Amino acid sequence: MATDIDARRAKVADEVKFDILTETQELDNEKQIKQITRAFISDTITVPTKEMYAYAVRASVGDDVYHEPSTLALEAHMARLTGKEAALFMPSGTMSNQIGLRTHLRQPPYSVLCDVRAHINKYEAGGTAFHSGAHTIPLTPANGHHLTLPEVEANVVLGYDVHSAPTEVVALENTLNGTIFPQDEIISISDFAHSKDIKMHLDGARIWHVAASTGASIKELCDPFDSVSLCFSKGLGAPVGSCLVGTKEYIAKARWFRKLFGGGMRQIGILAASAAYALTHNFPRLVAAHDLTKRLEQGLKDIGVEITSPGETCMVFYDPSSVGVEFGEIVDRASKLPEPIILAGSRLVVHIQTSPAAVEDFLQLVQELAKEKRKAGFDPAQYKAHVNGNGHIHSYKDIYVRGVKPTN
Ligand SMILES: Cc1ncc(COP(=O)(O)O)c(C=O)c1O
Repeated sequence: MATDIDARRAKVADEVKFDILTETQELDNEKQIKQITRAFISDTITVPTKEMYAYAVRASVGDDVYHEPSTLALEAHMARLTGKEAALFMPSGTMSNQIGLRTHLRQPPYSVLCDVRAHINKYEAGGTAFHSGAHTIPLTPANGHHLTLPEVEANVVLGYDVHSAPTEVVALENTLNGTIFPQDEIISISDFAHSKDIKMHLDGARIWHVAASTGASIKELCDPFDSVSLCFSKGLGAPVGSCLVGTKEYIAKARWFRKLFGGGMRQIGILAASAAYALTHNFPRLVAAHDLTKRLEQGLKDIGVEITSPGETCMVFYDPSSVGVEFGEIVDRASKLPEPIILAGSRLVVHIQTSPAAVEDFLQLVQELAKEKRKAGFDPAQYKAHVNGNGHIHSYKDIYVRGVKPTN
């Protein structure tokens, strides 16, 4: 006979239970997988495959706050691969960068010097100020591509002037917007920074692409840095995870901060194994993604579209003003194709699950729009003259149909 407490427990169990899977889950997933093959918004959207998950469920099942074996094995591999003493698995690239910086920085006042476009500067919610109390010195590279030693030398804050926040970390990013930082420049910056007792951190979320493109080893690319953050969940296609690497002492402190930040994770063997699967099976596929990016870049150039940041690895940035088209029009028309293409703004990201057909469909769409604009009176030659004559364009509408708008 059920007691009162049993009845109450059964009621609670009834309230608690939840079936997350929809009736059409498999079909929904297939739709999602199809969508991401035609989405150029990011490489974080790749989906874990059945093969990856089949491998992952065989991982060890321990609690990683108490050092679980599969995660430890991945960390040991990452330390070896990067040529550092130790590594720490992190839930995200943001946490890996932020703990990476926090572990170097002990007591304000201090500053972190980086590229103005860096993820730590633009896309980590002001974390460097929040977590580390650090001032950021964001630099715009004069060459539009990467920071140079003279720029770093001219902008680091040295010495003991009480008005200043001395630079304690130079943080670089490679790739940055999909472009490859020349390694000889990195080495020069690193030699200079180290000579001034400044630490070097690398946001190497996509360092894999540099190795895949240039053939340089991961160790060689990481050598100039005291700490490096590498991501598994972007180009490599794992569902979750990044790794921070550095000296044993540094990683021991970072492990402490990871707990403090709430990033100590439990049964994550399955995530470590997904990352390991991605390293083995997906790293070799990056070259094909780079080829697709090159195809995108060349296709856009052939149409007359301006490339604003070159397709060196998995990203290319473009500006369709040169053919009289606005981003909004492309995004809108792409979403209405029989097989829609998902776009954001000027950035096109190719990933290992991008469909080559989506690249061709996108190029065909841009070509069609450019043709329509020409038919309607847009003159690319006038546009070019306008841009060359004035150094910049106010709006393509200025030269659309009405001709070049005089400026002084
Ligand atoms: C260069 C770079 N670093 C760090 C991150 C942060 O990674 P997460 O989204 O895992 O926090 C990103 C995210 O896209 C990134 O592009």
